Amino acid sequence: MQKTKKLKKLVVANWKMNPKTNAEALTILKETLKGANTAVDVTVCPPFLFLSLLAKIKLKKGITLGLQNVSEFEEGAHTGEVSVLMGKNFPISYVIVGHSERRAIKESDEVVAKKVLAVKKAKLTPIVCIGEHERDQHGLYLDAIKKQLLASLALLPKAAIKEIVVAYEPIWAIGKSASEAMDGHTLHQTSLLIRKILIEQFGSGAKETRILYGGAVAPENAALLVKEGEVDGLLVGHQSLKPKAFGEIIMGVSHA
Ligand code: PGA
Repeated sequence: MQKTKKLKKLVVANWKMNPKTNAEALTILKETLKGANTAVDVTVCPPFLFLSLLAKIKLKKGITLGLQNVSEFEEGAHTGEVSVLMGKNFPISYVIVGHSERRAIKESDEVVAKKVLAVKKAKLTPIVCIGEHERDQHGLYLDAIKKQLLASLALLPKAAIKEIVVAYEPIWAIGKSASEAMDGHTLHQTSLLIRKILIEQFGSGAKETRILYGGAVAPENAALLVKEGEVDGLLVGHQSLKPKAFGEIIMGVSHA
């Protein structure tokens, strides 16, 4: 399937609830910057509490900060939540929405859809995460992917489809070692399916939507996943806390 416009590949660092100290966060970001190159867009998503500190560091061109989550509401009585407007006080571009670790604590497709809309309204780019729990023999996961994808994007205006990122992350691969990631061929089938569903629902603008893969991404599989899987980048969890490995992943993606 031909795409009409070629955006740069995107590599997302999802630090999750790491590291523990300000000093470590600063070191990881500074070291990460050394491994970045302008051929690939990179966004680093730290925990909220590190943003003030990390925003003081001058970032290289093509590198941005992002959020791991936001509230679906703009403000108000929502204890413990953080709104996208608060995030806009920082130089952020991307917001991860609907990560499986949030869905696991009962974030529904409906809430994810509201968050996607809130992020778009704030003129930021949502990275919408989807992915099946398991690959069953009967192919039920195919339906599950379609349902979750369409429900998560239910409130998105058609014209905005090219301004979002979809991160396909099979839950069974998340947090595992490189050998347990999805293979490139299977990823290709899945990325084609996702693109087809998006085009059917949103029209040809979906040819430009960036589709990423996440789940056990490591230096040894990054280039292969992007090349064989024909995805537009990667969402990296535990390996993004190791700047050397993350730099190798970026390098792999830029050569893929
Ligand atoms: P992982 O996590 O790279 O540690 O598998 C990916 C993710 O959960 O986004």
